[in-house]
Amino acid sequence: MVFREPSVAEYWLVLGDMHTGSEVAPMPDWVDVKLLSGEVRTIYPNDGQRALNKVWKDMVENLPPLTGVIVNGDCCDGNNRKSIGRGCWTTDLRCQVEACAEMLKPVMAHLKHPSNAYFSQGSEYHVVDDRPLDQAVADKLGAHYQAEHIIPMLGGDFRVQVHHYLSGGLGNWMYLPTAPARDQMLLALNSDPMEYGDINWVIRSHKHHYTNVQFSAYSGVTVTPSWQGKTEFAVRKGLISVPKIGYCLLKLYDDGTAQMRPYLTRALRPCKEAPVAYGDTEIAEA
Ligand SMILES: [Fe+2]
Ligand SMILES: [Fe+2]
Repeated sequence: MVFREPSVAEYWLVLGDMHTGSEVAPMPDWVDVKLLSGEVRTIYPNDGQRALNKVWKDMVENLPPLTGVIVNGDCCDGNNRKSIGRGCWTTDLRCQVEACAEMLKPVMAHLKHPSNAYFSQGSEYHVVDDRPLDQAVADKLGAHYQAEHIIPMLGGDFRVQVHHYLSGGLGNWMYLPTAPARDQMLLALNSDPMEYGDINWVIRSHKHHYTNVQFSAYSGVTVTPSWQGKTEFAVRKGLISVPKIGYCLLKLYDDGTAQMRPYLTRALRPCKEAPVAYGDTEIAEA
């Protein structure tokens, strides 16, 4: 191999955990929710959602021409049934699906081939049992839907395995790359052509944090960031980890090598600071 500066042959956008319907995730500028009476209630984003929407729009405006898009599960929030619907701006699932598709349409407009969009199945809780919301959004956009994908990129020379779940059996306090590296190794141990074949890159989501490990110029594993801030469930349970917000671009180069580039932001703080009064003055809320 002769070293040279390669140029990008293919850009693949990788999105995970949009959670449309959550009050701490982006949403369209307004959404009409049809009530049972036939009346319409119009819902607008809150301040935090407006900050997330700005980031989402920045992403859309800055995307290069894309060979493909991967939307790796939990694209809608579902009805949050264990919290009796708290944390959702609507529990109308059809409305969540339409809102998610509306946000993704300008993303899909960057595709060189409109059919190269791949949706995977999210967590059961957000998929909502027998109605995979990810599939409903994929259908609306004419995209491919499957629980898990193997996507042959670079004309088949670069194979990527995609699944929403990163199984959490190794525990929260493990070094973050341990679980994704385990999945990468297991795929390597199941590489018969009738199993997974040779896999260059592994993509996972679900954790709402970002981890990327590159093992060679041709192989690596990525856990994608999410689009959902700290949920009311996480607040109530005292969970400390702040979700990472943003997207990734998988860049495939003309010499067959690859890099995953993260685009992360700090749009939402997990908790506002409390005001404290001294005499006549009060330290303003930050
Ligand atoms: Fe999620
Ligand atoms: Fe999930």
